[in-house]
Amino acid sequence: MSETTINSNAKSDFPTPKNCFAETVTMVEHYTDRLFKFRITRPASFRFRSGEFVMIGLPNAEKPVFRAYSIASPAWDDEIEFYSIKVEDGPLTQHLQKIKVGDTILMRQKSTGTLVNDALLPGKRLYMFSTGTGIAPFASLIRDPETYEKFDEVILTHTCRDVAELKYGQELVANIKDDPLLGEIAGDRLRLYSTVTREDFEFKGRITDLLANGKIFTDLGLPPIDPETDRGMICGSMDMINDTKVALEAFNLIEGANNNPQTFVVERAFVG
Ligand code: A2P
Repeated sequence: MSETTINSNAKSDFPTPKNCFAETVTMVEHYTDRLFKFRITRPASFRFRSGEFVMIGLPNAEKPVFRAYSIASPAWDDEIEFYSIKVEDGPLTQHLQKIKVGDTILMRQKSTGTLVNDALLPGKRLYMFSTGTGIAPFASLIRDPETYEKFDEVILTHTCRDVAELKYGQELVANIKDDPLLGEIAGDRLRLYSTVTREDFEFKGRITDLLANGKIFTDLGLPPIDPETDRGMICGSMDMINDTKVALEAFNLIEGANNNPQTFVVERAFVG
């Protein structure tokens, strides 16, 4: 591959927009024709809380298209990781899916979000409910030791259409367990519950149905959700969020926010 191919947009003809960092892609991994992960360099001055999102774009226009992306790496990491969908005519992802190592990504300087430990009341067990790329903020939180200081047990649920789409989450958790430091902290306290909806698999079904019929609790060998001890975070499509909210409210959990910590919080996963 020639140098020009590798650095296809490394030298932008456009000035970096105000309040933006221009960072370099350090790795790209494609999982399926719909999903990929990439990592970029981290600006020394960029601070964020694990679970937050930030706006990113490409330096391919005077006024680039920006979209909110959850940061998938933890706050201590020296790179920034993102996990993205590819949409053929998506204003950002039609170009983003073609990035290569050495390319430039624009990232706004301020991050924010509600899927943070501070937005929840203290509890014993934290459930993280995700579908598709909604796993990204949880990829950050489950790699942050602070999560295990606040909760005895962390259950990450990840539901996708088919088995190939589960790979990012499965590798993520396997790598945590293999890591000498994180593995010791997370150990058996971190559990991944993967389900698929459009293919045969050990665990099947939408998370909303598995909560309603109690199968998730049978599968995990846990009691039903109890507002005294259990907390929830939800990230997926708008419909998934709304339906999972209803499911958690049936267990008497209450939606909270940064300025009003309660027993569960939600955030929409990026699409497009
Ligand atoms: P399904 O295959 O039954 O639509 P997507 O890739 O479209 O974002 O979907 C990711 C996963 O989320 C799929 O397994 C999908 O199930 C599931 N899903 C979609 N809508 C909802 C919803 N309203 N509640 C719960 N799960 C949902």
